[in-house]
Amino acid sequence: MQIITDPHAFQQRAMAERASGATTALVPTMGFFHEGHLSLMRWARENADTVFVSLFVNPTQFGPDEDLDAYPRDLDRDARLAEEAGVDVLFAPDPRAIYAEDHATWVEVPTLAQHLCGASRPVHFRGVATIVSILLHLAMPSMAVFGQKDWQQLALLRRMARDLFIPTEIIGRPIVREADGLALSSRNVYLTPQERQQAPHINKGVQHIAALAEAGERSAAALKAAFADYIAQHIPGAEVDYFELVHPDNIQPVHDLTGPTLAATAVRIGKARLLDNTLLLADA
Ligand code: PAJ
Repeated sequence: MQIITDPHAFQQRAMAERASGATTALVPTMGFFHEGHLSLMRWARENADTVFVSLFVNPTQFGPDEDLDAYPRDLDRDARLAEEAGVDVLFAPDPRAIYAEDHATWVEVPTLAQHLCGASRPVHFRGVATIVSILLHLAMPSMAVFGQKDWQQLALLRRMARDLFIPTEIIGRPIVREADGLALSSRNVYLTPQERQQAPHINKGVQHIAALAEAGERSAAALKAAFADYIAQHIPGAEVDYFELVHPDNIQPVHDLTGPTLAATAVRIGKARLLDNTLLLADA
């Protein structure tokens, strides 16, 4: 596996791959790899000739009071895991090599950033869309692979790629979970042992809502209230940042469920803000 830090060198390598006719896949990450990241790399390994992984803790997607400095980092371990997953190139640039001091260009997809995480993290998705757009211009991959854990991010990037005619297929892959249901996240390291024990209730709460919808409940207000009750009862110290029912493609609120609907939540437990989601009425 080759490790490249210079964006121009990475772009040249990617252009050479493309010119040779190879099918390429890019897996964008912020590092501190877990099985969720590795599942994306393995999928890429099976479906492309050449696999690029980017590892970049993107400063522009963190708000001023967020965890940019505390975000966990371990390049040596990540490089070893990526190599074991069959990655060909690990692109790990320095922030100053990506963002010039007078960087002035931003990519925004406002309607998809209005709700869910966008409501409580105002600059987040502008940062995500901009960095992914930069990475796609550098790697020019046939495919870019993302996890459904960050469903809103995936939906927004799909829209960006479509609107800008970016010739990359955006692939979404299922959430990888711990045995007790907790979605894997680099931020799970922020949990104390006691919080870690309570955290699976986020997914259990989401599953509880899925069961109510399955049993015929169609009112978003009723489902939201049931989720709030579930969390208040099972993780008393937690704060529900949001629990919303939205259209899975345009991320607009749904009031009465009539077709496939995304149930998505962000819950704060101690220092961690944890995401989960599931698709309700997937076959409706
Ligand atoms: P990061 O949080 O490192 O996640 C990188 C990719 O791994 C994302 O596509 C994310 O959805 C996926 N992922 C994380 N946890 C997962 C899980 N439990 N199961 C399946 N996939 C999972 O998301 C980002 O980085 C950044 O916003 C990025 C897109 C790299 C832009 O900076």
